Amino acid sequence: MNTDHVVRTFVDYFRERGHRRITGSTLLPPPGDPVLFTTSGMHPLTPYLEGRPHPLGNRLVNVQRCLRTTDLEEVGDPTHLTVFQMLGTWSLGDYEGPQSLRWGYELLTEGFGVDPGMMYATVFGGDDRTDPDTASLEMWEELGVPVEFTVDDNWWSNGPTGPCGPDSEIFLWTGGRSNDAPIHSTHTHPHSTHPTPSQDNRWVEMWNHVTMRYRRLDDGSLVPLPQRNVDTGLGLERLVATLQGKSSVFESDIFEPWRRLVPGLWPLDETSLRLVCDHLRSAVVVIGDGVRPTNTGRGYVLRRLVRRLLTVLWREEGGSRSLGDLPDELVRHTLDHFRQGMDPVDVRVILLDEEQRFRRLLERGRRILAQPRFRGPLDEERLRYLHDTHGLPRDLVLSLRSRE
Ligand code: SER
Repeated sequence: MNTDHVVRTFVDYFRERGHRRITGSTLLPPPGDPVLFTTSGMHPLTPYLEGRPHPLGNRLVNVQRCLRTTDLEEVGDPTHLTVFQMLGTWSLGDYEGPQSLRWGYELLTEGFGVDPGMMYATVFGGDDRTDPDTASLEMWEELGVPVEFTVDDNWWSNGPTGPCGPDSEIFLWTGGRSNDAPIHSTHTHPHSTHPTPSQDNRWVEMWNHVTMRYRRLDDGSLVPLPQRNVDTGLGLERLVATLQGKSSVFESDIFEPWRRLVPGLWPLDETSLRLVCDHLRSAVVVIGDGVRPTNTGRGYVLRRLVRRLLTVLWREEGGSRSLGDLPDELVRHTLDHFRQGMDPVDVRVILLDEEQRFRRLLERGRRILAQPRFRGPLDEERLRYLHDTHGLPRDLVLSLRSRE
């Protein structure tokens, strides 16, 4: 099953159950949202989760691109990407969490052929303000899926304030298979032999079902939303990789052109290859959504992505590698996948311009750091001075120093 097939199967399944498809938004959240980028499919729906009637009704389904910088350090592992797609469903004051879990279970097992023995669920265990989520527990017991209770990991919120609530997450077992064995061909049930999701990261979180029924206020208190919603999000790339029996998202069909073209252009070890592909692809999508490199906010996230990947590329071959060599096919493939209308040539111009700016900054940084007064360890005061007076970011100074 390739990515398009997975998306179609998901959307059709929920359409057949009364959901209307809404168009995914860009990576830029609506005004007033507390985050820089859309990090979850629910962002564009915040007003409707808070009670405004949605023009398409109270059952919705979509595919939403998301960007998470919280996971930047994890990129390179089998499951984390900076930009990824989330398959989402919503009940806006309509059906409740257990119904959503039952559909989730049925789609995974009957629609995608996942062996039920490869599933584990986590459920909110309750705290001093909110009761344990017994409704979800009972549904999982009825379906025969083992459950682990957690507290913090089973509470979802968009930011410090706003809609939130307890959630139940579906994990799939990704360990113990050879590269080519798809998930439905395994006959031993991992939960009889392996620990729970919080103890073993071969249980990979796939699908989060949030019962979104509170709003957190500035003072930290919780008030009930006007309606009880269900908000679910399923990570497309990790689902596809798991269904395809691949050991990482980078080996699924979504990354096929990247894996085919990048190693010939820039020979890299596996971890560096993953980081470069992830960051470049993410930078293209961010640029395609209208962001340009700057020193603050969204533009700074883009700048950091480009600088991080250049730092990896320039570890070898004396810094001669250039984003000017990036094949058009990769930029076009990414823009097409995310249905972005920008010309690949314009994307390359922006990347190249940023590369040149970074190159100049590095040269200046090396010259300044070579001055006698900056020899030896750099304390906080000097780091601040280098930043404020010479425009040299702390991270850059530290990385130049570590390579001297
Ligand atoms: N908002 C939840 C999440 O991002 C479910 O979509 O995990």
